[in-house]
Amino acid sequence: MQVLGVVAVILAIYCVHATVYFREEFLDGDEWRSRWVNSKHKSDYGEWKLTAGNFYGDAEKDKGLQTSQDARFYATSARFEPFSNEGKSLVIQFSVKHEQKIDCGGGYVKVFPADLDQTAMHGESSYYIMFGPDICGYSTKKVHVIFNYKGKNHLIKKEIKCKDDELTHIYTLILNPDQTYEVKIDNEKVESGSLEEDWDFLPPKKIKDPEAKKPEDWDDRAKIDDADDTKPEEWDKPENIPDPDAKKPEDWDEDMDGEWEPPMIPNPEYKGEWKPKQIDNPNYKGSWVHPEIDNPEYSPDSTIYKFDSIGVLGLDLWQVKSGTIFDNFLITDDVKEAEDIANETWGVTKEPEKKMKQDQDDLKRKEEEEKTKEQATEADEDDEVDDEDEDLEEEEETKDDMEEILSLRSGHNTTWGHLYCSVGLQADVGELSFSFILVMILPFCP
Ligand SMILES: *[C@@H]1O[C@H](CO)[C@@H](O)[C@H](O)[C@H]1NC(C)=O
Ligand SMILES: *[C@@H]1O[C@H](CO)[C@@H](O)[C@H](O)[C@H]1NC(C)=O
Repeated sequence: MQVLGVVAVILAIYCVHATVYFREEFLDGDEWRSRWVNSKHKSDYGEWKLTAGNFYGDAEKDKGLQTSQDARFYATSARFEPFSNEGKSLVIQFSVKHEQKIDCGGGYVKVFPADLDQTAMHGESSYYIMFGPDICGYSTKKVHVIFNYKGKNHLIKKEIKCKDDELTHIYTLILNPDQTYEVKIDNEKVESGSLEEDWDFLPPKKIKDPEAKKPEDWDDRAKIDDADDTKPEEWDKPENIPDPDAKKPEDWDEDMDGEWEPPMIPNPEYKGEWKPKQIDNPNYKGSWVHPEIDNPEYSPDSTIYKFDSIGVLGLDLWQVKSGTIFDNFLITDDVKEAEDIANETWGVTKEPEKKMKQDQDDLKRKEEEEKTKEQATEADEDDEVDDEDEDLEEEEETKDDMEEILSLRSGHNTTWGHLYCSVGLQADVGELSFSFILVMILPFCP
């Protein structure tokens, strides 16, 4: 009995230790609509849909919020009891599934101060933290970790690659009161370090001493010309000489053609420009290193990690091809609890999800194989080869176009993003002519 009691007490202590500030797994049908608030900042935000998608591990548990319209901004958020992460770890975790083979779109969350006006949330609303994957074209495939410090957003200096397949992945950010952090994907560490080193929150600790100067007589030439070396007398030879084998053509007419001259050829004896031998410089002092001093602008801050009133989690995104599903949102102060929950949710459904996707892919491949077989027996062989070549070329072209559109487009989605197909033209045209161009080009959008 006594032993049981002790175990119970220990368990109780352990359990109260973890605080879950926010958890959302969309397990109660349409009820999520009462917890999530759509922004009304724009009139044409994309619609969110509750679904487990085309393939999943569990038809109910894997239901999450899915972006359902192409080339739209999305903005929704959920509120929780405000808290400060002072003196505690902060864990932000959620799962993302780009089942649509995403071309360009955000997959990240923003964590806001409690005073955010949710119905007015937009791309410029100030947030504490932005975290999660972002994909755009073939060049941007990264995990953002952005912290707001003294009113300014600071991006992580390290490049963290995100997942770009179609399966569900779970992303975790851990922020510790000792100002260290860790990023995990699928419950495995992919990056870690210290806030001070991996972001430019503070000015550098050391700077080059502005007083120090390289002494004028500092000799940093490792090698010098050998003064004893002289150019050999027979060195200088012309670069080109008349071809000794050339002969005046028999029908050469000096009156008509002028005096005959043999063509020039490179001189085999030509040695180029003479340079003296190099020897070690006896006065060499090595390269001069600028001495550093403590930066007077620098003062340490042990509260960079601290946010006073965390109160809203939001999805504020731009997506070209929709279909991303967000699920399993969690904000807690307990790293182990977050890992446990990830194991119990994503950890349990990831394998069956993969299996269902594989089965679907296999089926599709089989159907396509059968179709091509049928076509092959019908069509003339020569024609088919031609067609295939054309198809391949076309595919290459659309891929190039896409890349161009996507790379040009990014940078404009804050204001003009949904007009992404009119890239390049928008900067110098007025609003009126701009809309016209859009109508012209939209049909060619990928
Ligand atoms: C536009 O959206 C894409 C995808 O989320 C992102 O990579 C890019 O940085 C965004 N551009 C701007 C200016 O917000
Ligand atoms: C989560 O699952 C992994 C893989 O099965 C395991 O190694 C790890 O210990 C689990 N974590 C917790 C907190 O149970």
